[in-house]
Amino acid sequence: ALVSLRQVLDHAAENGYGVPAFNVNNLEQMRAIMQAADKTNSPVIVQASAGARKYAGAPFLRHLMAAATEEWPHIPVVVHQDHGTSPAVCQRSIQLGFTSVMMDGSLLEDGKTPADYDYNVRVTQQAVAMAHACGVSVEGELGCLGSLETGEAGEEDGVGAEGKLSHEQLLTDPEEAADFVKATQVDALAIACGTSHGAYKFTRPPTGDILAIDRIKEINRRIPNTHLVMHGSSSVPQDWLAIINEYGGEIPETYGVPVEQIQEGIKNGVRKVNIDTDLRLASTGAIRRHLAENPSNFDPRKFFTAATEAMQEICEARYLAFGCEGQA
Ligand code: G3H
Ligand code: 13P
Ligand code: ZN
Repeated sequence: ALVSLRQVLDHAAENGYGVPAFNVNNLEQMRAIMQAADKTNSPVIVQASAGARKYAGAPFLRHLMAAATEEWPHIPVVVHQDHGTSPAVCQRSIQLGFTSVMMDGSLLEDGKTPADYDYNVRVTQQAVAMAHACGVSVEGELGCLGSLETGEAGEEDGVGAEGKLSHEQLLTDPEEAADFVKATQVDALAIACGTSHGAYKFTRPPTGDILAIDRIKEINRRIPNTHLVMHGSSSVPQDWLAIINEYGGEIPETYGVPVEQIQEGIKNGVRKVNIDTDLRLASTGAIRRHLAENPSNFDPRKFFTAATEAMQEICEARYLAFGCEGQA
């Protein structure tokens, strides 16, 4: 059944677990996520970016989501719009039947220029007024995602700030978060706490607390009724990187957010955990390997099945690690 983000995250907060939010663009990703959720009996958050809408087209995307609830009626599914750049974008998603939207007012409409606080409050208030009138949840964002190591936002072609970010921008201010929530009434808040989008998060193997866990704790203390969202939460599995490179890929050394650090975040109030890159890496590795090992195959269903299985394995591992099992 389709449910709102508020419903799923309230349950997650009451029961102390976190929910991965996977990006979807196509049938294979959707099946991988749903099959993993079915196997572990987990609630589902699927999210579509502007890029996904461009790739699949709004009608296909909408019916892909509807198909998920038709095939697995016992699994609660949140259909969420990822990184909406304006209230108008949010409005179109609400009309399409999404049950949750992100109004990312931390950046201007171009999706790259850091916006000032007043702009962020203004556009988020507009999105909330519209969405809440329709029973749709809203996620806002405060702070700019970027690496604490380099000050870079990561992600070349997707969403992300352009240019170097200051330490100040890279960590959400708890005081400001309290003020923002009071002014906007968002259901969930994406915070900057040391993660960044894409595959290039850390240049060295991360050890110890590479996220600002104390900051997460403090923000949660100030806004206990607003669910915290961690973007840029891919772990960049080293085994899939090795497989990609073994079969002709060229991806330089790079590291993501260790699952243990995400679990630490969940203990301290993170409820929605955004993951896209990990599924991209797994499907690319599986397809490269399948084609190399089966040079005479030209039936795409064969390599798409390999990709789906690889993605499903990651989804299952995250549902288990974040405590979703049996919570559907
Ligand atoms: O936050 C960005 C997500 O990874 C979506 O990426 O804009 O390339 O679809 P995309
Ligand atoms: P990753 O690039 O770490 O998978 O993050 C995805 C994300 O935050 C989507 O909003
Ligand atoms: Zn994001």
